[in-house]
Amino acid sequence: MRTRPVAVAAFGAAFVGAAVVANRLAGKPVPFLRWSVLRFLLSGRRLLREGRVGDGREEALARHVLATVPAGDVDATIAAIDDFARHTSFLMNVGDEKGVILEDAVRRARPKVLLELGAYCGYSALRAVRAAPPDARLYSVEISPANADVARRVWAHAGMADRITAVVGSIDDGGRTLDALGFGSGTVDFVFLDHLKSAYLPDLRSILGAGWLHPGSVVVADNVRIPGAPDYLAYMRGHEGTLWRTTEHHAHVEYQRLLPDLVLESSCLGGHPTPPAGAG
Ligand SMILES: C[S@@+](CC[C@H](N)C(=O)[O-])C[C@H]1O[C@@H](n2cnc3c(N)ncnc32)[C@H](O)[C@@H]1O
Repeated sequence: MRTRPVAVAAFGAAFVGAAVVANRLAGKPVPFLRWSVLRFLLSGRRLLREGRVGDGREEALARHVLATVPAGDVDATIAAIDDFARHTSFLMNVGDEKGVILEDAVRRARPKVLLELGAYCGYSALRAVRAAPPDARLYSVEISPANADVARRVWAHAGMADRITAVVGSIDDGGRTLDALGFGSGTVDFVFLDHLKSAYLPDLRSILGAGWLHPGSVVVADNVRIPGAPDYLAYMRGHEGTLWRTTEHHAHVEYQRLLPDLVLESSCLGGHPTPPAGAG
């Protein structure tokens, strides 16, 4: 009886291993059946704690970009990151399919000041700034100093260091990051939420509480279906037509076409109640 769980685990591991090998031999028709994706999925707690997979893939990406992409070429940098994520190691970027949704939203909003939560390797910030007016600036809040360092190197190589600033911290760190950002009232035109999914709603409430948004500010949120931000989705649906006007973009989890995902593009209608002092 005691050998049964061991046998089941061994059979499961053998089955997954065989599936990955078969997928590889067949030319990777199932994009997420790859070692680098399984390694990513198994890094669960470390990924949540440090924002990294733990096998050095983010550093490898930075080296790859600096070694293969001509300096100052944003388009080639974005293409090289997509290629690396598809063929070398999976990366949790917004990706090429949802990246187009993000860029289209930026083009519609024509923002001067953009705020991103979750820089990772700097991919989505490059896409957002590429689609923004030439004088636009993006501030990206990243909790992992190591990820912020990778992103800064990628942005500098792409010639974007003067338009994108990484701020190491998080919106919920007791006011330190809110103070460091220090935007004026009604000056943030665009927010991209792509960090800890359970923090989307509380962090948006903090941003609203700081008074940084204005009627017409746009908030785009990635991964609302997978990994999922159910409280954020319920909030946007619950305030449709009153505080927000939201478009739900149906797409797929990055770098594959089987798992569905949802991106929300929400335009602020104004009239947000000011939370009491100290409320999150
Ligand atoms: C999905 S990745 C961001 C991908 C990036 N936006 C892109 O598409 O290129 C999530 C990132 O959020 C960071 N993160 C996690 N929790 C955070 C928090 N509370 N505040 C800021 N960043 C956070 C992680 O370290 C990780 O780098």
